[in-house]
Amino acid sequence: MAKAVNENCVFSVLTEKDLDSCVAFVHEYYTFSEPFRVIVDQYLDECPQIDTERIKKKLTDEASIGVFDKNGLLIATGFGGINDKFQSSLCCKCQTPAKDSSRYLSIINGMISFLEDGLLDELQTNKFLMIAILVVHPSHRRMGLASKVVGKLEERAHDLGIGCVVVNASSAYSQKLFEKLGYKKLRQLMYADFFDEKLQCKPFIKPNPPHDSAVLYFKFINCS
Ligand SMILES: CC(C)(COP(=O)(O)OP(=O)(O)OC[C@H]1O[C@@H](n2cnc3c(N)ncnc32)[C@H](O)[C@@H]1OP(=O)(O)O)[C@@H](O)C(=O)NCCC(=O)NCCS
Repeated sequence: MAKAVNENCVFSVLTEKDLDSCVAFVHEYYTFSEPFRVIVDQYLDECPQIDTERIKKKLTDEASIGVFDKNGLLIATGFGGINDKFQSSLCCKCQTPAKDSSRYLSIINGMISFLEDGLLDELQTNKFLMIAILVVHPSHRRMGLASKVVGKLEERAHDLGIGCVVVNASSAYSQKLFEKLGYKKLRQLMYADFFDEKLQCKPFIKPNPPHDSAVLYFKFINCS
């Protein structure tokens, strides 16, 4: 996709050369109260490469969008992984033995399984683009930038011949955003109610608005 200039910003497909700036941006601006993110942070102590690995994996698909300001600084990201479930994107290959965080990961994996298991069958598709880590720099929020990034991700999916876009939206703000863009709710997990049958436990996440549920959304788009 050619670079498109939108007022003072440039939207472009992110590639592996953007890895370091993406990792720095995500560390700095992805909200630390975001429940799923908290798990990654717990894990970072034991496995410092986890962000780098999961972002690198997505960049290889060349289906992620970055927005750069006029000085070339990253001000927004939306990562797209082809058939990339959130669960698999949490796995790191650095082989650091997991300690405390392995329990957190088991719990989060239970929640993700609840949301995502059987996804392909339910949507009757064999290919989807999973949107993740949609982040806008705090001084550029509420200007429609995240919505434009999602639009560009849909265009990218279309160009890659993918007809279905999926997202796990874990804040009431992003849930509103995706609903406005025509996304349909597939499953919802309320943190206050969820009980993991396999682990026989409730998640440790305390509902903290706007983070009180995770919703898996999908949208079918026309593809070539
Ligand atoms: C969520 C986030 C990506 C939204 O980015 P943004 O560029 O401000 O979003 P947009 O301007 O495109 O907003 C589109 C709509 O989403 C909803 N929305 C977005 N932010 C909101 C907020 N803080 N409060 C209430 N509604 C909000 C609104 O309905 C908004 O439309 P409106 O401005 O016409 O009312 C941004 O706040 C962010 O980076 N948050 C931290 C990371 C995060 O939580 N990401 C989502 C994880 S799934």
